[in-house]
Amino acid sequence: MTDIGIELDGISKSFVSGAGTVRALDDFTLSVAEGEFVAILGPSGCGKSTVLRIVAGLDSADRGSVTVAGSSPQTLIAEGALGVAFQDNALLPWLSVRANVALPYKLTGRPVDQARVDELVALVGLADFAGARPSQLSGGMRQRVSIARSLALAPRVLLLDEPFGALDAVTRHRLNVELARILAAEASTTLLVTHSVEEAVFLADRVVVMTGRPGRVKLTVDVPFGRDRTKAVLGQPEFLRLVAQLTAALDDDDTETGTAA
Ligand SMILES: Nc1ncnc2c1ncn2[C@@H]1O[C@H](COP(=O)(O)OP(=O)(O)OP(=O)(O)O)[C@@H](O)[C@H]1O
Ligand SMILES: [Mg+2]
Repeated sequence: MTDIGIELDGISKSFVSGAGTVRALDDFTLSVAEGEFVAILGPSGCGKSTVLRIVAGLDSADRGSVTVAGSSPQTLIAEGALGVAFQDNALLPWLSVRANVALPYKLTGRPVDQARVDELVALVGLADFAGARPSQLSGGMRQRVSIARSLALAPRVLLLDEPFGALDAVTRHRLNVELARILAAEASTTLLVTHSVEEAVFLADRVVVMTGRPGRVKLTVDVPFGRDRTKAVLGQPEFLRLVAQLTAALDDDDTETGTAA
């Protein structure tokens, strides 16, 4: 893995509003190899979603450069090569679960691969709800639709912002195992934002801990397990050691308080 999948170099981003200026990111630098899975942990409000939004081209940096799979986010989106499942990802309310998952094919003008769509719907445990509308689903079920949708086109770059946040522990754990299995087969370059240290260590090749606001990289830890990892990893001493190390780094809070107008 030598090619660069995502390169963020010296990113700074502030938000200016009537209440003052919030420095969300300050000199944030991260390089993700092609096919690598990196998880980002950090205190609430440290700029994790901002990082993902910048990679997705939904927001722009004030300073620094962003390269995604060698081109701009806009080019990747047009090619259907960027998959995103964000915290507040909206589903189209008038479409069924199946049609929402098939949306990326329509948006990029491709024929729908119905077998893959059905496989993804089943993967996230919604086969019985394939014809349901989003309003008939719980929040966690809607989140699962958005995860399935993000995977539809087997994207080169996958951005997941707390995709499992609203799920119960059992479902979350099952989806972690399933996602690990799928991503091992697809080799997408993946950035996952999560608040779960265990989830980060279970899924990622590398875990990045951000400082409090303004967010920057505080600690990077390599995860020594292969992608074919199973639940058995969870009990290993090395897994527990990494979880403890990352939890300690997160505990040590350094968020800037207040705003500077
Ligand atoms: N569009 C915006 N306008 C103004 N401020 C914003 C905007 N988006 C983010 N911010 C501010 O930037 C900071 C970082 O926000 P961001 O959503 O990236 O945090 P986060 O790390 O994802 O937090 P959480 O873990 O709670 O989701 C926060 O202080 C937030 O208030
Ligand atoms: Mg966020």
